[in-house]
Amino acid sequence: MTTVNREWLNSLPKVELHLHLEGSLEPELMFELAKRNNTELAFETMAEVREAYQFNNLQDFLDIYYQGANVLKTEVDFYDLTWAYLAKCKQQNVMHVEPFFDPQTHTDRGIKFDTVINGISRALKDGEEKLGISSELILCFLRHLNEEDAFDTLQQAEPFLDKIIGVGLDSSEQGHPPEKFSRVFDRAREMGLLTVAHAGEEGPAEYIWTSINNLKVSRIDHGVRATDDTNLMQYLIDKQLPLTVCPLSNTRLRVFDDMSQHNILDMLKKGVRVTVNSDDPAYFGGYMTENFEALEQALGMTKEQAEQLVRNSIEASFADEKRKQEMLDILNNYFN
Ligand code: ADE
Ligand code: ZN
Repeated sequence: MTTVNREWLNSLPKVELHLHLEGSLEPELMFELAKRNNTELAFETMAEVREAYQFNNLQDFLDIYYQGANVLKTEVDFYDLTWAYLAKCKQQNVMHVEPFFDPQTHTDRGIKFDTVINGISRALKDGEEKLGISSELILCFLRHLNEEDAFDTLQQAEPFLDKIIGVGLDSSEQGHPPEKFSRVFDRAREMGLLTVAHAGEEGPAEYIWTSINNLKVSRIDHGVRATDDTNLMQYLIDKQLPLTVCPLSNTRLRVFDDMSQHNILDMLKKGVRVTVNSDDPAYFGGYMTENFEALEQALGMTKEQAEQLVRNSIEASFADEKRKQEMLDILNNYFN
């Protein structure tokens, strides 16, 4: 019998559905871009970076994450950021990705929307052609900003609708309920976009309900607080509404004190369509393989559970039916 070790998990074909491109900015590239663009950084050494990357909660992290994104200025910077992530995916046998980007983080400091999206989508196209990694891009609204800002961002996205599959909602969850953006999400759906939302990461299970009922989401990002509400759990199981769970993120941001307390495998056993993702890998200590590895080490994830988690991601993805079947075939081959 094959053991579930790092090598096996690395070559397991995988799919990533919850990844913030700005959160894949490794310190090395951050230093390089700061130098390239003459940008002042808050850190001088790697030791200072490591010291800063210790978080007590989501807001602690977000403060550092938005600061880090200040080094991204030109189209080439966004290309390089995205390409570095895709290269990592290639090393870890990730077949398909659906990254998020946060345009407001950049447009609010004077970077043009088209600079951001053109750099990212050019890299995604090269990723497909040169690395064989398929992708769909998701635009996230920052929920700590207001509805009008989100509408303005959606309007800026209009000329680029061929480059994005959907919209999402991220940033500080508590105090910013999904329904704050009901009308923006209505408009996005009218424009033909799919919707997802971060909910039940730090915020209550109620925010998962309002993401479903008001924002009509196809997936919930995180959603680990769903276990607080038995009716919601039953709904997620009945509807097979996917959760994009991020184990290392959850322990780094103290959603769970320790990986041994994580509820992902309990939800999997109950029949919830949970998936494994890395969220902000440059800040949380690992990409896809490391997230799977953490589940094996702390929770004894089996080969069969790893397979089901990937199967869930393929089924929950926004890839077309042909690509989904291709990926299921690749996964089945891996197990034969
Ligand atoms: N932006 C980047 N990572 C995030 C997370 N884990 N939750 C909310 N917003 C985010
Ligand atoms: Zn996230």
